[in-house]
Amino acid sequence: MAYHLKASSFVLISPNSEVIYMAEVFLPAQLSVLPDFAYHDDKTAPMGLNFVHTIDSKPLSTPWQVSEFRGSLLQGQPLPDGPILDCACGSGIQLSALGHVLQRPVYGIELDPERALASAKNIQTTHDFFHQQVQPWFSRSKVFVGDSTDANAICTVGSIEKQSIAMLYIDPARPRNSRTHGIEEMEPPLDRVLKAWQPYLALLDGFPALCFDLSPRLSAVQREEIEGIVLSCFSNIPMFWQWSSRGGGRTDRLMLWAGCIAQQGFSRRYIRYPPDQTAPFVITTEHRESHSNALAESLHVGMYISILDTALVECQLADEWLTSKFADEYRWIQPEGRRPMVCHTRSCVLDQREEFLIQSTGKIVAQYELAIEPSTVEEFARFAISHGFGKLTLRFEMDPEQQPVIQKTLDYALRPGPHSRTGFVVQHPNKLQYFLCSSETK
Ligand SMILES: C[S@@+](CC[C@H](N)C(=O)[O-])C[C@H]1O[C@@H](n2cnc3c(N)ncnc32)[C@H](O)[C@@H]1O
Repeated sequence: MAYHLKASSFVLISPNSEVIYMAEVFLPAQLSVLPDFAYHDDKTAPMGLNFVHTIDSKPLSTPWQVSEFRGSLLQGQPLPDGPILDCACGSGIQLSALGHVLQRPVYGIELDPERALASAKNIQTTHDFFHQQVQPWFSRSKVFVGDSTDANAICTVGSIEKQSIAMLYIDPARPRNSRTHGIEEMEPPLDRVLKAWQPYLALLDGFPALCFDLSPRLSAVQREEIEGIVLSCFSNIPMFWQWSSRGGGRTDRLMLWAGCIAQQGFSRRYIRYPPDQTAPFVITTEHRESHSNALAESLHVGMYISILDTALVECQLADEWLTSKFADEYRWIQPEGRRPMVCHTRSCVLDQREEFLIQSTGKIVAQYELAIEPSTVEEFARFAISHGFGKLTLRFEMDPEQQPVIQKTLDYALRPGPHSRTGFVVQHPNKLQYFLCSSETK
């Protein structure tokens, strides 16, 4: 691939004339003609802001809405002077958003030269989209092709001084089909990046600013391990974890914020991105330990069931929010998994934005105690019709191959009408007991 652009190549020669390190720097403010990169539509970006990606980097990249909102969370936070550094910048969407929102120079490091080039292009695109005139942050931004665990080499090439970086951000690569989400699988390794960059990070109140975008499947033990890595470099550093979700029954992103940007007094933060791109819903808590309300002893017709957003539960903020809604008048049915559920005796009155915190809510209309399978679903449908249902969504764990078959048969058998009920079916976590819930909760 022939590039026509202004990049600087650096080669350091050892005393015995060997090339010991080579790095390239792309300057987003000086890119001219680019190779044929494909433009991809990011549905979360404003119309006309189109980013380039290499063939395989699109799925890795952070959506613009998420990247920009992260930038806005940093606005107004105490940050030392200096550029923002992304030690695994991929296509540079997050980096572009940080430069634009914080109006700070950004430095990206990327092992893959084509991705690094895409990053430089995306920084340029972002700048040009929002500004008529060249902004100082943009003219000082750089993207290095290199290994971010070799901070000294990058800093030699980029003339980066000790204690000059305002914030270290990293979203390490991880194997796509990882089962363990092991910390050792991250590339570049977090411990090596932190140790390498420690001398180059500026401090405020004695702490650097660190922000890590990690696997949302990390267990509590693995999270503690990560905290240990950070503490081994910076003792007593303040930290908090942030869970975020776009719905769909899972946590999408898990971040650790540490240092001078983590001194807001809370210990966990939850962010729910609404599907319509409106402002995300944010909840924080200062409590280190979360309380957990008791499990329901029994469920019966007339009670209400709500399936909560999984990330809200995983970040242990659900009880705090539920208490604000129901005081002590709710019980857990299923406190974990893709469909965490509670029951309550009053209907759940939600303001428009809170609706994103629950997957479904409804009043129990009937209880059913026979298996729901492809061979028995028609019988179940007759039962549902006898209780006035015209539409029912199956909201319980079942064989993923059977689920669409059963749902389709049910949809066909139930006919929505002007007076029929709409709702969902959940299963008791430990019994062959299903509850048909009506979404019209009044
Ligand atoms: C998950 S992606 C980052 C995506 C990025 N946040 C975005 O918005 O586009 C991780 C990147 O780290 C890069 N990487 C892996 N090891 C690296 C290393 N030692 N130094 C620099 N980059 C590295 C990979 O090539 C990959 O592009």
